[in-house]
Amino acid sequence: MVLTNFTVIGGPASQSLAKSLARKLDAKYIRTDVRIFPDGESKVTIDGKPVGKTIVVQSAYPPIDSNFIQVLSLISKAKETSSQVFAVIPYLCYMRQDKEFLPGEIITSAVIAKMLKAVGADKIVTVDIHSELAIKYFDVPVRNVSAVPKLALFFKKMKLKDPLIVAPDLFWAPQAKQFAKILDAESIAINKQRSRKTGKLEIKQSQKRNFEGRDIILVDDMISTGGSIVKATEYLKQQNCGRIYAACTHALLVGDAEKKIRDAGILKIISANTIPGTTNAVDVSDILAKSL
Ligand code: R5P
Repeated sequence: MVLTNFTVIGGPASQSLAKSLARKLDAKYIRTDVRIFPDGESKVTIDGKPVGKTIVVQSAYPPIDSNFIQVLSLISKAKETSSQVFAVIPYLCYMRQDKEFLPGEIITSAVIAKMLKAVGADKIVTVDIHSELAIKYFDVPVRNVSAVPKLALFFKKMKLKDPLIVAPDLFWAPQAKQFAKILDAESIAINKQRSRKTGKLEIKQSQKRNFEGRDIILVDDMISTGGSIVKATEYLKQQNCGRIYAACTHALLVGDAEKKIRDAGILKIISANTIPGTTNAVDVSDILAKSL
């Protein structure tokens, strides 16, 4: 695919994905450098002058606030010389808070939306946004693409025993269904509830199936502390299932999440490359290229 006059700026946190996207678009690539000061501030430098339509690529994963400030800085810089700036933020942070659940809470997804517009983003592209409801706070077009079909195709190549696709909460039931369809398998969603005050997880009455000996693929948008996946694994093990795998778009895997998940008995974690890491098995650069 050749798009004339496209420039890709690879943010410090997403250089590899950005290079891959630039190759797919046959676009000019501008690399960036970052220096982190002892107090945590980022000094970002770009190695060229973006012109025409510029695509800034950077995921806002931990350290979230730093990486997000870098995204804002790059968009702002690109806007000085570009005709349009598209912000490709594969993992878009702060999308959990899409309403005021408890009095006094701040709708951070709306704050993020305002900041992206203020620095000059003309369009946002993201992958499996945590809450589609949050899109309503954006004044610029948001394109939300999904890694789910590619994650499913990855598992389709594996030899699995009567697989059952499981969403660890009710929100991702449609995506689990979509995943299952690609594998010609069944799907269910666990009724996980999280206390708004304490964050404590609890599994309520959930859909029943014959789990005995069946391979399970847990599918979620993100794995952060691993708490949800571990809770779901404990529940599934009580039902005497077979092997358990975890698939997610965004493998945040904070702290010792990976160890906790493996200790709970998950055989493998498979993720997309929206956040670089050892669990990456699915490349989203082609999906992003098509969306631009
Ligand atoms: C919840 O709504 C999300 O889809 C994830 O299940 C959750 O954010 C994962 O977080 P953790 O790994 O900390 O349980």
